[in-house]
Amino acid sequence: MDVTSLVSTAQAMVADGKGILAIDESHGTIKKRFDSIGVECTEENRRDYRAMLLSTPGLGERISGAILFDETLRQSTADGKLLVELMNEAGIIPGIKVDTGAHPLANHPGELVTEGLDGLRARLKEYASMGARFAKWRAVISISEATPSDACINANTHALARYAGLCQEAGLVPMVEPEVLITGDHSLEDCYEVTVLVLRRLFEQLYDQNVLLEGTILKASMVISGDAATERAGYNEVAEATVDCLLQTVPASLAGVVFLSGGQGDEEATVHLDAMNKLGVFPWPLSFSYGRALQAPPLAEWGKDPAANISSAQAKLAHRARMNGLATTGEYDSGMETE
Ligand code: 13P
Repeated sequence: MDVTSLVSTAQAMVADGKGILAIDESHGTIKKRFDSIGVECTEENRRDYRAMLLSTPGLGERISGAILFDETLRQSTADGKLLVELMNEAGIIPGIKVDTGAHPLANHPGELVTEGLDGLRARLKEYASMGARFAKWRAVISISEATPSDACINANTHALARYAGLCQEAGLVPMVEPEVLITGDHSLEDCYEVTVLVLRRLFEQLYDQNVLLEGTILKASMVISGDAATERAGYNEVAEATVDCLLQTVPASLAGVVFLSGGQGDEEATVHLDAMNKLGVFPWPLSFSYGRALQAPPLAEWGKDPAANISSAQAKLAHRARMNGLATTGEYDSGMETE
């Protein structure tokens, strides 16, 4: 294991003022996004859309890395430049999603376990040779009367730790993502309780597998009320509960924490991150790895006219990247949205 390079990549991913762009949607998910803007989900359109995002002028000032889907890592722009090369020129670290999706967990109705360990060592080797420097694996945990079960938490955190070990063996920084879903009518307190359990188990498993935390990034969900809760906690409550939950569970040696947006609105996700970083300085940088919260405005703009609206869509992405970049140091203000 090349410790120095793992640690320096992990630190670069969460450098002050920067965060991660998640564009690693599976074919099914990107089709849903394209359906919403009336664009056909072809390989060429997926390539054009993602190349448009990645070639946003100045993106590397606020985006340290981007997570790609397998197809994207292999694609070139319309004029023949590999997207990975374009990213390297822009100072954006190439990352890759390596799990193969969440599937029903046997004997546990309503719960999922993420698969993809079989053959992972060989896939990681190939991804590293193609220029990927970090890899993501997403597990999902749902909150309801009956869930999560211990079995679901154990199976998912065990797989995350096994994947993380394989990543570091291949020289890739693991971005471990145990997403506690926002779906449901649960309270902030319910989410706090479940997130503590999941993160404690995750770090035990990472420890068991000898994973180097200085070369690991946690992709966390915020501690937040369910999307169908009757009374939802406010920005500061979310920020305080999330930071408290992390302080109770995450070792100080971890390289950094990045959040997913998980169905929050784009400005909402920025305000939450900023509110956390306004609370003080923590043992690890708190940054972002947003998918929908970075892509919603550029996707809508591009969808109006994919051929003509390239620079206006890129301007939307650059704006959200800047707002979130400022939120990583607690320097965001909602007044900046309209400047
Ligand atoms: P969202 O920010 O849209 O939740 O996506 C982030 C991600 O990569 C989920 O795995």
